[in-house]
Amino acid sequence: MSSAPLLETQNLGRKFGQLQVLSDFDLRVEAGEVLGIIGPNGAGKSTLLSVIGGSVGASTGRILLDNEDITRTSASWRARHGIATSYQIPRPFLEMTVLENLLVASTFAANARGKKAEDLAIGAMKSVGLEGYANNPASSLRLLDRKRLEVARALAANPRILLLDEIAGGLTESEVPELVDLIRHVSASGVTVIWIEHVVHALTAVATRLICLTYGRILAEGEPQAVLNSPEVRSVYLGLDPDGENEAESFVKNRPSEVQKEPNTHA
Ligand SMILES: Nc1ncnc2c1ncn2[C@@H]1O[C@H](COP(=O)(O)OP(=O)(O)O)[C@@H](O)[C@H]1O
Ligand SMILES: [Mg+2]
Repeated sequence: MSSAPLLETQNLGRKFGQLQVLSDFDLRVEAGEVLGIIGPNGAGKSTLLSVIGGSVGASTGRILLDNEDITRTSASWRARHGIATSYQIPRPFLEMTVLENLLVASTFAANARGKKAEDLAIGAMKSVGLEGYANNPASSLRLLDRKRLEVARALAANPRILLLDEIAGGLTESEVPELVDLIRHVSASGVTVIWIEHVVHALTAVATRLICLTYGRILAEGEPQAVLNSPEVRSVYLGLDPDGENEAESFVKNRPSEVQKEPNTHA
């Protein structure tokens, strides 16, 4: 008897006008995986995550959670049923404290009340190591701690699957390993992770499997180092000589992380 994966997409597609952003996308994610996703800008990575999270609808195909078809459910339904997202630019309520931000998340995303909402908020705060800042306003946090808060905000809904979209963006090279440790800890606590990231060495440090997307399709998939060394990925994504050997790792290590330009304010 073969058991169903935790998350599955079948023939998933998304069009924006005439633009086919995601095509025939078949994905199986097993419980406990840390799946890394890389690919050039415009490849459809964020769209894939948004379609899985439910903030963008699928044009074709199906999404199954534990073998149940969730394709037509709303983002808020999915948040209450185990799928949470963290974004590159954290947008906490700046004037509220760390704990208040997490109470908002557990109350609205997990639909919890009272003691249950408090327990979820406090659990999320501890799991990202922000308990020392519980009563500090979010505006006082440095960027790495705002990223921690952003991950905690997602964890406050008690998810089974955490979707991360380029959360390492803007961090310094010395901060990236701290974020990697955090994601490793989240994974060890039993949450399945799908992580899109430009800072490739962050992914290879923790991912159990890597997918490279281009034009809304899978270009390469498998063991992270093998994917990075594959000729297709070397030429399409890393811009390297497809036949050269062993520079892919140093290239991605030396790639500067992007500078965060957008303001950290709530829209
Ligand atoms: N809401 C939208 N409306 C129209 N086009 C969109 C929308 N979202 C994304 N796109 C387009 O879809 C393509 C893939 O975008 P995206 O998923 O953000 O790629 P990535 O995250 O890999 O950089 C891009 O060409 C982008 O302009
Ligand atoms: Mg994106």
